[in-house]
Amino acid sequence: MLEKINLVTKEFFNELEKTENLKSIEELRIKYLGRKGGFADLFEEFKLLPGTEKPAVGKLLNESKVKCQNSFDSLKIRLEEQTNNNSQFLDLSLQGREISIGTKHILMQTLNEIKDIFKSLGFSVHEGPELESDYNNFEALNFPDNHPARDMQDTFFVNEKFLLRTHTSPVQVRLMKTTKPPLRAIMPGKVYRNEAISAKSYCLFHQVEGLYVDKDVTFAELKGTIVGFAKQFFGNDIKYRFRPSFFPFTEPSAEVDIWWQPTGKEGRWLEIMGCGMVDPNVLVNVGIDPEKYSGYAFGMGVERIAMRKYGIDDIRLFFDNDKRFLQQF
Ligand code: PHE
Repeated sequence: MLEKINLVTKEFFNELEKTENLKSIEELRIKYLGRKGGFADLFEEFKLLPGTEKPAVGKLLNESKVKCQNSFDSLKIRLEEQTNNNSQFLDLSLQGREISIGTKHILMQTLNEIKDIFKSLGFSVHEGPELESDYNNFEALNFPDNHPARDMQDTFFVNEKFLLRTHTSPVQVRLMKTTKPPLRAIMPGKVYRNEAISAKSYCLFHQVEGLYVDKDVTFAELKGTIVGFAKQFFGNDIKYRFRPSFFPFTEPSAEVDIWWQPTGKEGRWLEIMGCGMVDPNVLVNVGIDPEKYSGYAFGMGVERIAMRKYGIDDIRLFFDNDKRFLQQF
């Protein structure tokens, strides 16, 4: 039996030496190391030996099998590596892959355009925190506690005193408290409202709010600024109207609509922003004398005006991060 083991082992190594590819090494495996291979036969034979012969034969059989298996394994790895290298040869005539470079999100592009227009009109840019006090978001802006006007903006409260700001107007409060008039600024940023999510509304959106406080500021100046902005943003030939409205922090207040004429469909008026003369109560709350100063304010939703400008019909597209949408801009 010992001789037989040595013979099988020798034959295995003879054949291994001639093995040059993955196909023949697999054949070799089946012939010697497989379930019905040479070594399996030897193990069957081994079982029938008398007990006294078993230790010596078993030792040689095990050692031989391990030796064959190890040599088999390392040749197989070498052959696999060779095959991989062959398939990865360099084809210098192949065209390079196009690398796609990211672009600014359409909302940021729109926001930058709005900022640039107002900067050219002499407005500076101010930002404030998204987590606000109830006081700055509502009370200072003339929304008394339990006033129904608070229902205009469904609010995410963090606790009794703090909330996620529902508009960027609290930045006006912060600015007026710390800066003496004249002041002329826009306040861009994220705002949050607890609204049912649909094509028209999302729990989060961006606003740009504007504020001008000085001596003798008039509604005519407000109108001039907004019309100037709208023409630069939407084009000189837009049709617009100012419609009386209500905000607790402005008096009088108006909403601005532009005429929307999609090709092949019926045109209609679309609201793009709210505006008005800063309510004297607000000026008092921030320590500005309403006898000496007056001001105007306006606020617009960035998503909304981007939707108007680019004909986007679902606000959720801005937040889905679907590349098919984003790559169009
Ligand atoms: N803050 C208002 C809103 O979010 C918009 C607005 C700003 C209206 C300033 C008038 C003046 O609805």
